Amino acid sequence: MCGIVGYVGKKNTKEILLDGLKELEYRGYDSAGIAVLSNNKFESFKAIGKLVNLQEKTKDFITEGFAVGIGHTRWATHGKPTELNAHPHLGENSYVVHNGIIENYSTLKKELMESGVQFLSQTDTEVIVHQFEKNLKSMHNAFEAFRATIQELEGAFAILLVTKAEDKTIFFAKQGSPMLVGINAEGEKYFASSDTPLIGHCTDVNYFEDGDYGFVSAEELSIFSKDGEKKAPHFSKLSTDKLSAQKDGYRFFMEKEIYEQSDVIVDTMMGRLSDEEILFDEIDKSLFDGIHEIKLCACGTSYHAALSASYLFERYAKIKTSVEIASEFRYREPIMTKDTLFVVISQSGETADTLETLKMAKKAGLRTLVICNVDNSSMVRLSDASILTRAGIEKGVASTKAFATQVTLFWMLTLYVAKLRGALKKEEIIRQISLLREVPASLIVTDELHEKIKRLSKRYLHGHGFFFIGRDIFFPLALEGALKLKEISYLHAEGYPSGEMKHGPIALADPELFTIALLPQHLLYEKSKSNVEELSARDSTICAISPLEFNKADDFIKISTCRDYMLEFFEMMVVVQLISLEISIRLGNDVDMPRNLAKSVTVE
Ligand code: G6P
Repeated sequence: MCGIVGYVGKKNTKEILLDGLKELEYRGYDSAGIAVLSNNKFESFKAIGKLVNLQEKTKDFITEGFAVGIGHTRWATHGKPTELNAHPHLGENSYVVHNGIIENYSTLKKELMESGVQFLSQTDTEVIVHQFEKNLKSMHNAFEAFRATIQELEGAFAILLVTKAEDKTIFFAKQGSPMLVGINAEGEKYFASSDTPLIGHCTDVNYFEDGDYGFVSAEELSIFSKDGEKKAPHFSKLSTDKLSAQKDGYRFFMEKEIYEQSDVIVDTMMGRLSDEEILFDEIDKSLFDGIHEIKLCACGTSYHAALSASYLFERYAKIKTSVEIASEFRYREPIMTKDTLFVVISQSGETADTLETLKMAKKAGLRTLVICNVDNSSMVRLSDASILTRAGIEKGVASTKAFATQVTLFWMLTLYVAKLRGALKKEEIIRQISLLREVPASLIVTDELHEKIKRLSKRYLHGHGFFFIGRDIFFPLALEGALKLKEISYLHAEGYPSGEMKHGPIALADPELFTIALLPQHLLYEKSKSNVEELSARDSTICAISPLEFNKADDFIKISTCRDYMLEFFEMMVVVQLISLEISIRLGNDVDMPRNLAKSVTVE
């Protein structure tokens, strides 16, 4: 996830910007850059990879006296992680840094190019600075031009812009992406995407609200709300604990990432949903020409996302779909035919087993697609096409938001393929898209839910094992729930299809066997319920998760009543993630770095 810093003051601007970016490293990035405007003269530097590369490039650059500066760490979403795509982006006399996604960038870019503007990067961000300069030419007032530019942008953004037209000022705007400004007794002003770069520099901070925009100079901090009204800053005291600031006050990164899901899903979908169809600018429709089967291949949590996708591909796109565990597939001499699209799924894009299967598929002449969170990763570079999940960096080893974005992206891809194949009626695609728009709300963690799970978790710290059970797409969710629990609590857990329990595992049923039952209202409710009743009759301890009251359970977690099973899927996903989290915390484990596990497994 990108990070932004900004500075207005008399100290060493270069060092302040670089130090600020260092504090944002935890957010993940693949390139970085700064621009400093001093005495109406710009200096800008960009570098791909780690910040040391930028430090090296700027080692002879000295800043003295008053300056305004902006800096950025970029996590690629539109365009590869190259130096040209790194921020700040330059117009003629201005530089901009941006977090978020400008949804209407292609329309703006087309208009600007038609009027003769040349673009250097593939990013959505570059339109901001050119649009600003276009407005500046007609308005002759930098703030008015900035205000007009912001009003023309759709999507999510946190923006800082500096221009020679007003060389002692930083213009800012916030819509959807986080940003704050901090002050101190020395009259300096600092901007950042989160608290951490400001700790030790500022005493008070103002967190911008969506729609806020304005400008900052040595003398002034002017904030306007989205309706154009000037508003007073609302300052609060800044915390002094950096680690807790990185975690946004959550106890663990995993907890933060669970809470973040509702926001990152908006990024996953941004620019990709129109009213009637799914848009993936990054792939060509011909990728699916002559394709009669989809083969999905992955490891770990990504494998569970793939399994979930297989239900949706067959149900919505009416295309034969198979799923493979990469470590198995690579040694079992599989038959690969050229009418199969080979899709690998990987959060990191580096998992050795998955990467190897991609190589095998390429060698066999199959068309390949990767669903990935990291641009320029080995898999993205190798496959014919790629779609990014845009989850931002995930720090908790146990994957949460990466899974949520993978399943959402697959759901969108199944609708994309359904449209290509004429497998779903237009009305149904429209209905599905309206459901997708409800996913962010389904992912919100309420205090009530979290409190309930915290309380209930104390009864699940022992026993001889857990079964997470579900039917249909809730079976892969059960697998994922069990995996989460295993990973961070070290308790034995299995995911099982509800209907399969009677063929063996039910023999284990007793009060010390914990069943976590997924009971969606909108998918095979009665069938699933009977399976849970069979376990309840044999005295297994049951925790049921459902929107419908279920009186045969020992514990019951009620999710909200939604209008489709996919929304129930996402609500239940949050519940199983929180159950694992709270059990692990009670057991005193290291939630973010569980024993024996690695975030990216680049060995066999
Ligand atoms: C490791 C991680 C898991 C992850 C799996 C696959 O085991 O601990 O969280 O699901 O690798 O990783 P990938 O990056 O390919 O999705």
